[in-house]
Amino acid sequence: MSNSAEDKIASLREQISLYNDHYYRHDAPIITDAEYDRKIQQLKKLESDYPELITPDSPTQKVGGAVLDGFSKVAHQVPMLSLDNVFNDDDLSDFVVRLNKRLDSDKELVFCAEPKLDGLAISLLYEHSQLIRAATRGDGSVGEDVTYNVKTIQNIPLTLKGDNIPEIIEIRGEVVMPIFAFNSYNKKAIEKGEKGFANPRNAAAGSLRQLDSNITAKRPLAFYSYGIGQLNGGDLSNSHYQRLQQLKKWGLPLSDEVKTVSGIQGCLDYYKTLLESRDVLPYEIDGIVYKIDDIELQQKLGFISRAPRWAIARKFPAQEEQTILLNVEFQVGRTGAITPVAILEPVFVGGVTISRASLHNRDEIERLGIKVGDTVVVRRAADVIPQITRSLPKKNTLSKDIVFPTHCPVCGSEIERIEGEAIARCSGGLYCAAQRKEAIQYFASRKAMNIDGLGEKVAEQLVDEGLINTPADLFSLKAEQLVNLERMGAKKAENLINALKKPKKTTFAKFLLALGIREVGEATAKNLAEHFLTLDALKQADEEELQEVDDVGEIVAKHIAYFFRQPHNLEVISALIEAGIEWPEISPKEQKSLPLQNKTYVLTGTLAKMKRNEAKASLQALGAKVSGSVSSKTDCVVAGESAGSKLAKAQELNISIIDEDELIALFTSYETILNGN
Ligand code: IVH
Repeated sequence: MSNSAEDKIASLREQISLYNDHYYRHDAPIITDAEYDRKIQQLKKLESDYPELITPDSPTQKVGGAVLDGFSKVAHQVPMLSLDNVFNDDDLSDFVVRLNKRLDSDKELVFCAEPKLDGLAISLLYEHSQLIRAATRGDGSVGEDVTYNVKTIQNIPLTLKGDNIPEIIEIRGEVVMPIFAFNSYNKKAIEKGEKGFANPRNAAAGSLRQLDSNITAKRPLAFYSYGIGQLNGGDLSNSHYQRLQQLKKWGLPLSDEVKTVSGIQGCLDYYKTLLESRDVLPYEIDGIVYKIDDIELQQKLGFISRAPRWAIARKFPAQEEQTILLNVEFQVGRTGAITPVAILEPVFVGGVTISRASLHNRDEIERLGIKVGDTVVVRRAADVIPQITRSLPKKNTLSKDIVFPTHCPVCGSEIERIEGEAIARCSGGLYCAAQRKEAIQYFASRKAMNIDGLGEKVAEQLVDEGLINTPADLFSLKAEQLVNLERMGAKKAENLINALKKPKKTTFAKFLLALGIREVGEATAKNLAEHFLTLDALKQADEEELQEVDDVGEIVAKHIAYFFRQPHNLEVISALIEAGIEWPEISPKEQKSLPLQNKTYVLTGTLAKMKRNEAKASLQALGAKVSGSVSSKTDCVVAGESAGSKLAKAQELNISIIDEDELIALFTSYETILNGN
C-alpha cells in the first residue's frame, strides 16, 4: 500500500465533506454536481483498490445530509438511503449482470424505471389518511421536521382519498421547483435586484428548509412520489410500479414518465427516450433510477451501507460544468450595443465544447459578481445558448475586476450608457465598422435619403466587398465597381449611380434623420431642423439647449450630444457635405408675434395639475424658450411643489417667480392661441 493512496483518500474525504456541508447544510454548493460526482468516483476507485482503508464514516459509506438547528428532528423508522451511480451503458449493463448473478437466475429482470428528479428527498407520513408529519432525509437516519412548510405545497394532499388506505403509510418522494416556476421566480428576483437561485434544486431545497413557512408558501414547489417507507396495514401489490400507481389513485402526484422495462435492452431504450425528452419535462432531472420491480426480490437483495443493491441511478451528461473565466471581451453589435463576452478555458458541457459565453450586459456582470480568473459555472441545457450562472468561491488572489470600456473597441468612439438602461452603446454610429451595414442601410432608406436600388442586400455587399466604409463613400462609387456584385449587372449598376445623384439635394431634416442618431426619428429631426436652422448651430448645442426643442427630453438630448461629440462622426458629416449634399436654407418660422416671444422660462418642482411636458409644450406654443437651468437670461421661473435649488437661485437673481395656478391662469388668458385659433 502506498502512502500516497492513503493521503489521497484522506484529502478527497476532506474535500467531499466540505462540499457536502455547503450542499446539504447551506443549500449553496461550491462545486458543480459533475465535479462532485467525479470526486466521489475517484474516492470509490481508491477505496476499491485499497479496501482496508474503507472506514464507516467515508462519504462513500454514508448518506450525505445534514440536520439544521432550528428544525425539530425526526428519526426515520426506515432509513432514507442514497443510490449508487453509473455514468455509462457498460456500467449499467454490469449492474444488471451482477444482479442476475446474485439472484442466480438468467431470467430477464423487470425494473421500474423512473426519472431521477433533481430536488430534495422528503418523507410524508400519513396516519388514517391524514398527513401528520413531513421530514427531510437529513443524514438518512435523522431528518428535519418540515411539516408546516410541506403543507404549503399545493400538490401534496393533506388527506388521502380512496379505498384500502393503510393505517400508517410513509410516502417518499422528491420536492422540486418546476422549471417554468424557477425561471419566472428568478426573473422576478433579478428584476428586484436580488440574486436568484443557482438552479432548480437549490431553489427547492432553499425554499423548503425555511424556518418561516410563510416564505415556503410563496415559493412554487411541487412533489412527486417514488416510494414507500414505513407501512402498517393495507394490502399492497408486490410490484413497485403497481404500488406507485396505487399512490397515484390515493391522490399523490406521480411522474408520467414512470414505466416498467425488461432486461438490459429495456433499460438502455428507456435511457435513450428519456434523455431525448429531458428538456421538455416540466422539472429538472439528472438521470434515471432503475429499481427491481419485485418487492420480494428487493428484500432478498437488501442494502449495502448507504444504498440498496436493487436500485441504481444512471446519471445523464451534466448540463453544468465549472471552468475558469480567462478574460472578458467586448463585442459591438450592428446597432452599436456593447456586449461583454466571457472567454473561458474550454469546457465540455451539454455535448459541446464551450469557450465563449455572452455575459449580456454590465448589470449581469454585477449580479454574478464575477472577476477574471474566477471559477465559474457554465450551464448549457438543450439547444439553449450557454450561460454563466454563477461563480464558485475558489480563492483566486489573481482575480481581476472586469473593467467596462469607456470607448468602443472597434472605432474608439465614446461608449454611451444612459442611466437606468442595461445596454451600453457605441456612439460612433456613422463611422464604427461594426455598425457600418446598419448605418448605410438607414442612410439610404426611403424616409431618409431615399436612394433607389440600395436595399439591405446591396448595402451588405458594398461593405463586405470593402467598397465603402461610411455613407460618404457611396458618392464616389463608380459603375464598374458595382457590376460584379451579385444580382447587379450593368443596367442596375448604372441606375444606382444615377440614383446616388438625386439625394444630394435634400432637406436639413432628412439629412439629420439619415445620420441615424439614436431615437431621432422623423418628427424629432424636423423639430431639430426648424429649431436650429443650421447644422453648425445644432452641432454646437449643449444638452440643455437641445432640450428646448419640442419632443426632445433629457435622454434624446444626451444621444444627440454624444453623437456630435464623436470626431469620427463629424468627419463623415464633413465628407458628406463635401460630396455635395446640400439643402435649402430654412428661414426662421414665420412667427406671428407671440406673447412670450424671446422669453425664457424654467420649470422646476412638481406640477400637481398638469404634466411637465404639457406645460413645456404650451409655453413653447406661446413663443417661450423653456430651459433646464436658471441664469441671468431667465425671464420667469415656474415653481411647482418642493422646488429646490432652482427656486433659490431665481430668488437670488431676482427673477420673477410664478406658481402652477398662475401658470394655468396665463395659459387660460391665451387660450385662443393655444387652441390654434
Ligand atoms: S429512490 C432506496 N427514486 O436521489 C432508494 N430516488 O441519490 C432511495 N431521487 O435521495 C431513493 N428521484 O432524493 C429514488 N425516482 C427516484 C428519485 C430519487 C430522485 C433522489 C432522492 C435520493 C437521491 C439518491
